[in-house]
Amino acid sequence: MKTDISTLKQEHKQIMERLQQHRLALMAGEIGQAAEILANLREEQEAHMALEETELLPRLNSDARWAEKVYLAEHRKLRQLLDRNLSELNSLPVQIHNKVLVLDLLERGILFKHVLEHHFEREEMALFMEIHP
Ligand SMILES: [Fe+2]
Ligand SMILES: [Fe+2]
Repeated sequence: MKTDISTLKQEHKQIMERLQQHRLALMAGEIGQAAEILANLREEQEAHMALEETELLPRLNSDARWAEKVYLAEHRKLRQLLDRNLSELNSLPVQIHNKVLVLDLLERGILFKHVLEHHFEREEMALFMEIHP
């Protein structure tokens, strides 16, 4: 199967846009909505990563800039962070008005955002360029 790199890049954009929607919902104290968006993002992320893991990573050469294990470790980290954030949200009321808690939740989510941005950057500058048809 030939993997369409432009589709994968498009998915990166969609995932970042969904994360932005999630953060906006959090900012508004709409925890139920924020959790629902994050659960959808989780589904998209799983499908995206599964494709990379089955179609792309096995085709990485030994002289690749970053080895397969680097990408796999980041996938693991992203799954872990997302699941942690999602279960925190699921333990809260669907709507909150406590601004301090809202700020705290946004801060707790920032590590996932940073790892995700960094990971997409790495894939677009290396993995996606190093895959041979
Ligand atoms: Fe990835
Ligand atoms: Fe990706």
